[in-house]
Amino acid sequence: MTPYTLVTGATGGLGAAFVKELAGRGQPLYLTGRKEARLAELKEQLLHSHPSLPVKTAVCDLADESSRRALYERFDAEHIKFSRLVYAAGADIQKPFEEYTEEKLTFQARANFEGAVSVARAVLARGEGKLELLFIGSVSGIYPMPYFALYSAAKKALWQFAAALRVELKGRANVTCVQPGAIPTREDVKENIRSQGLWGKLAALPPEAVARKSLDAVARGKRSPVLGFWNKLMRITTALLPLSWKMMFIAKKWSKTRKDAF
Ligand SMILES: NC(=O)c1ccc[n+]([C@@H]2O[C@H](COP(=O)([O-])OP(=O)(O)OC[C@H]3O[C@@H](n4cnc5c(N)ncnc54)[C@H](OP(=O)(O)O)[C@@H]3O)[C@@H](O)[C@H]2O)c1
Repeated sequence: MTPYTLVTGATGGLGAAFVKELAGRGQPLYLTGRKEARLAELKEQLLHSHPSLPVKTAVCDLADESSRRALYERFDAEHIKFSRLVYAAGADIQKPFEEYTEEKLTFQARANFEGAVSVARAVLARGEGKLELLFIGSVSGIYPMPYFALYSAAKKALWQFAAALRVELKGRANVTCVQPGAIPTREDVKENIRSQGLWGKLAALPPEAVARKSLDAVARGKRSPVLGFWNKLMRITTALLPLSWKMMFIAKKWSKTRKDAF
């Protein structure tokens, strides 16, 4: 039996693009998300377009330890082996830190970082052959971002974790944390891209392109590529500017938007 690719956040905009791309590559898929109906819909679509593709689904709240444990017990009960992880789950709450509730704060930190670390361990323990571990970071993790502080810090932590793990697992697994800019997935993200005019357009990449480039990057053993020409250019050209200037610019730009999640 060919091992599975585990896709977390399969119910989301980017996750769905990964699912489509991986299905096209004939990869058996194990899909998770919190929305049961959306998982069922995805499975039905896949069985229609790829009738012989093995597809499994399981609801899991990755910010919840007992929900994660139940998922791992299910893997074992089903004797699942994995060849790849795509950690595309994430929550992008954006507002002044003082406006967070304790509940939201914990949720965001767990969904974006703790869940990724835990799932990576679970996949490694059930891995078969040479593995690929792909984490979806963000250009938001490159510099500290006032008004997006926790998200930015969690993505930075994810990037650092992946980079270190890559060395520990050399020869056994390719580990990549990609850093995309804006991806027009949800309506609020699309609106945000539109509101930034030309800058927004240049920094954005469609989810299908992000999925394809990310899978290619992990297959080629890349560490943490910034995705998209404009984002790469910005990364290089801003590298020498003082951090205080960059943060002043970010604070001005990001203090205007507020986003929530649950
Ligand atoms: N969109 C962008 O501009 C952008 C840019 C850079 C990086 N990213 C990153 O790309 C990834 C996907 O983003 P997206 O735009 O596709 O967002 P999205 O459409 O909101 O999807 C987020 C996904 O994460 C899942 N999720 C959230 N909290 C979870 C939890 N506690 N447990 C399990 N699953 C959880 C959601 O599941 P349910 O819907 O089932 O709850 C959904 O499948 C995220 O890591 C995000 O940070 C996005």
